[in-house]
Order: sequence, then structure tokens, then C-alpha cells
Amino acid sequence: MIFFQPRFVLEEMNGKKIERSIIMCGIVGYIGKNKAVPVLIEGLKKLEYRGYDSAGVAVFNGGKIEVIKSKGRLSNLEEKLISIELSGAVGIGHTRWATHGEPNDINSHPHISHSGNIAIVHNGIIENYIQLKEFLQTKGYEFKSETDTEVIAHLVEYNYKGNLVKAVINTLNDLEGSYALGVICTDCPEQFVAARKDSPLIVGLGENENYIASDIPAILEHTREILILEDKEVVLLQKDSVYIYDMLGQRVDREVFHVDWDATAAEKSGYEHFMMKEMCEEPKVIKDTISPRIKDGMLVLDSVKLTAEDVAGIEKIYIVACGTAYHAGVVAKYAIERLARIPVEVDVASEFRYRDPIVSEKNLTIIISQSGETLDTLMALREAKKKGSKILSIVNVVGSSIARESQNLLYTWAGPEIAVASTKAYNTQLAALYLVAFDLAYKKGTISETDLKRLINELNSIPDSVKQVLDAKEEVQRFAAEHYNAKSVFFLGRGLDYALSMEGSLKLKEISYIHSEAYAGGELKHGTIALIEQGTLIICPLTQDFLFDKMVSNIREVKARGAVVMAITPKKHVTEVQKVADVVVPIPDIDPLLAPAVAVTPMQLFAYYVSVQKGNDVDKPRNLAKSVTVE
Ligand code: AGP
Repeated sequence: MIFFQPRFVLEEMNGKKIERSIIMCGIVGYIGKNKAVPVLIEGLKKLEYRGYDSAGVAVFNGGKIEVIKSKGRLSNLEEKLISIELSGAVGIGHTRWATHGEPNDINSHPHISHSGNIAIVHNGIIENYIQLKEFLQTKGYEFKSETDTEVIAHLVEYNYKGNLVKAVINTLNDLEGSYALGVICTDCPEQFVAARKDSPLIVGLGENENYIASDIPAILEHTREILILEDKEVVLLQKDSVYIYDMLGQRVDREVFHVDWDATAAEKSGYEHFMMKEMCEEPKVIKDTISPRIKDGMLVLDSVKLTAEDVAGIEKIYIVACGTAYHAGVVAKYAIERLARIPVEVDVASEFRYRDPIVSEKNLTIIISQSGETLDTLMALREAKKKGSKILSIVNVVGSSIARESQNLLYTWAGPEIAVASTKAYNTQLAALYLVAFDLAYKKGTISETDLKRLINELNSIPDSVKQVLDAKEEVQRFAAEHYNAKSVFFLGRGLDYALSMEGSLKLKEISYIHSEAYAGGELKHGTIALIEQGTLIICPLTQDFLFDKMVSNIREVKARGAVVMAITPKKHVTEVQKVADVVVPIPDIDPLLAPAVAVTPMQLFAYYVSVQKGNDVDKPRNLAKSVTVE
């Protein structure tokens, strides 16, 4: 997640077109007056959310480069470092998510060149590394690892003729693929070089010290003055200067950005887990997402440039996203179809991009992504754009690839989301999508100004409603404590409650490791009811008034087969639902169309408490990374 000051970045970032495909390892680099190692390790810790399976540092020490690396968690690396005196003030560090070669001490970064004079860290994939490796082998270079990265270290050495910047530029000219790089060289102990293409890298400016990092939180405790590197740029860092170059070696000027969001936004602030902290932030961030877009009770979506004429010409809307963002898209389908009467198809990005979708200028494609870097989603955006579709993106990370490539853009102001399991991003995505649905409907003339104002009023009530749910979280905690050993959990719902159930089920799966499925209530008797037996756990949202009786019947069906049911329903229905469910979690009364933005919170809480009860790593569940930037 690269979080910049929204005001200036909106202007700076929009409209720039880039091609990317990224691997989200973590890079930190330091040059300055202090010991490099503590800066590198603390910075890498802030990047842990990106996922990694090994870590390492390279530091100038007594005239030579020392490389220390270790498989597994950063604590393993820290243990190794205890017994080694590394006092150097220039270094690069890395957390690696294995792509080429298993996670072990050899494949970990940094990688060193043949002579040991060059050390590099790299995020990304070098697609032509086999050809480069073969070439270098003919020149006598020996390879130690199975990685694609090692070729870069050797190639920089091969190209080095006394100027590190030139050597890196010449090397990059031969690379195909994506990279963020940090390079140090024994010949230049007072400098290091970094570069990027299709993988994030920022430069932090200090006083007599400078930094690079994959993301701002890694260096925020040291500096708030940031340079954003563009693709195919190389940067030379010395402790008192930073110069950016293009691929021709020409100097490039770059405006300094001041980050003014609080460092604690990316810290736990006393919460045991980021996930809990992020759920507790939901009321605030939903409000932050809605408020700037409403003036005098009406919508003001400055960054959505679709005119009434454009909207009238939209024959069909595609919504494309992955995971939680996809689930937000399913909710949006109901809202847009109901209000704007435009047909909506919701697609998983990895399917959309490969199915040659029938898309034209008569379509609007809505792209949803927290990170703005999910590769499948980004590629789906490009596919739709190539075919002439209008694009509107809902993105959380300011300046991310998806944000940059979208003509129409609504940021969700959720702030940094560190926990792998997305929570506050989902609620804010829904808030933004409701705004879009209202806007489309109003522009199309399918809702009146009175309807719009009433809906806006309801939308404004969501933050307070979510707060009420959070204030009563112990009810969910108790239920989770009783049922955390469940082998399988079903989420049952109808209409928007079905869309919501998909998200509840995903949340539980990813952090509790319990098998779970979301089912449409009416579909149950077409097969799945065979799985319901004594003690089967079922979570049922009942927020859709016109489907309420049908859903109560579904609960009766599963209860008759021995299921245990936790229902989530507006206060007005509690008495009725208590007659059929084992536990009822009330939410404030709300327009059914908007209910998912509130009713999801008990589901998130349930997943959280089950995960805690099971002793799982809540924020970093197994096999998952925060941003999925590979296929
Ligand atoms: C949600 O908890 C997951 N971490 C995952 O499904 C996520 O929503 C998905 O990978 C999409 O990510 P994006 O919003 O950053 O594109």
C-alpha cells in the first residue's frame, strides 16, 4: 500500500499510463549517519503485511559488503544478527516471497555478484533471466541460487565500468519483466542506487540520511518527505543528496511530497491485532468516504466525470474485482440494478480477463480494488479499456496502478489496511459503490431528488450503525468462543444477504481455516441441505424485508435438521427471529439496500474471534499475502 497525501496525489497521479506486473516483496534501503541494520530491520517489519518467507540485509562493513540472510520470519534474521557486529551506515534489506526457487538461505536476497563487489535486492520477476544467465555463464559467471534475481547482480558487475548509475541503466536495458531494485557496490561505499519498473518503490528524504522503501510505512518514523519514483527511473542516493535519472542517464526533477497521515495509522495503537483495529476504524473511514461527496444533501462526485448523456448510453455495466472487492461488487450489482435499472454483470477479474468479454464503448466497467495493484484486476481493467469501455474504479491506495489508469475514480478513504483479511476496505467500498449507484440512478432519471436525498440520509447513518454493532461485539465473541471448533460453517442469505454471505464466508475461511460456504437460501434444497446435520453451524443475515419470511422458512428447514443458527437482523425483526434462531445479533434498523455495509461487521467480528480462539495468526493467515500481484 502506498499512501500519499490525497490532495496533491490526486492531481499528480491521475492519467499517467503504465504497464505493470508486480511481486510484493519488501525492500528497505538506508544511507546516512546511523547504523543501517536497525533501520532496515524496523522498516522490513513494517512491510511484513506484504507477506514473505525469508529475509536478508547487505551492509557495508569495514570496506566490504556483508550479507546476512535467513529463511522464515524476520526474527530468525534478527537472531543471526545478534552475534555479528555490523556498524555500517549504508545497507539494503529485503523480505522475499519465493517465486523462483524455494524459500531458503541461498535463494533469499540480497544476492551478490561473482566477485562479491555488488549486492542487490529485487522485487518483481525477470522474465528473460534464463537467456541472461546463459549469456553470463559463457562469460564465466557462476550462479549460486535458483533465483531470477541473481542475474541482475552479475549483470550489474559485468556492466560496471566505474559508474554505478550507468552500470544499473545498462543492466536494466537488458531486463524484461518487473523490478524494484536496491544496489550497493564496494567501489562506491558512500552511495547506493535504486530503480523501479512495475513494482513500487519510494525514496524518503532525511537530514544527512536518505531511504528507499517499497511502501511509506517502512520509513515513516524517519521522514515524511517522499519522492515517488516513476517506472524506468534510476535514483542515486548519497547521505546528503538524491538524484533521479531516466534511462538515458538524464536528470529528472521530482516534486517532494509531504505525507501528513499519522504514523499510527499503520500501527496497532494498543490493539492486539490490526484486524480488530481496522474493524474499530470502520465508522470513521466510512464517514470519511461518504462525507466529502455530499454537499447540501446532494451528491458531489467530482472525480466521476460521467455525464447524464454518458449514463443514458450505458447498455450494461461490468463490475470486475477479486476476493472481498468482488463481493462488494456483488452487493453493488443489486444496488445499481435496483436503482438505475442498468443490467450489471459481476466478474472475478481472473475470469473476465481471459474470457474475451463482449465489451464496447456502450459499457461501463467498474473496477474495485483495495490495493489498486492486484494483477488480475489491473489486467481486466486494461482488457475492458482496450475494448472501449468507460472505466470507473473504486480504489483505496492513492496513486496505485489501477487509480492511475482509470478515467473515473473514487477513492475509499479507508487508510492503510494492514491485516490480510480485508474489513474496513469492504465497508468503504460499499459506501463508495452506493454513491455510484445513487449517481447513476439520478443521472439516468430513475430516482427522484426526494428519493436521492432519503438514500443519502440513510447512507449517512451507516457509520453510527456500525459503531453500535462494534459496541456490542461481546455477543459475537461469546458465540465464537462456543463454536470455534466447528468443522464447517454455512452462510445462508437471500438477495443482498446472499451477496453479504459470500464475504462473511470468505472472512471466516481465510483466518479461521474452517471450511465454509455461502449459499443462496432458496438454493439450499437443491443439494446442499444434505450436508446439514446435528450441530452444523449456520450464519444467517436477515436484512431484506421482502425476503424475510422466506429466509425464516430456510432457518426452520436447517433447524429441523439439527443446525445451530446465528442470525443477524435489524432490531425491528429481532423478536420474530429469536423464535427460530439460537442467537440473534441485532443491527440498527436501516434501508435494506444499505444493510450489507452494517451487517457485515458481525461477520467480520465472528471470523476474528474464531481465529483468535484457535490461536491463529490473525493478521497474517497462512498462505496469504495482502496484495496478490501475481497470477
Ligand atoms: C480479503 O480479505 C482478501 N485479502 C482478498 O480477497 C482481497 O480482497 C483480494 O485479493 C483483492 O485485493 P484488492 O482489493 O487489493 O484488489
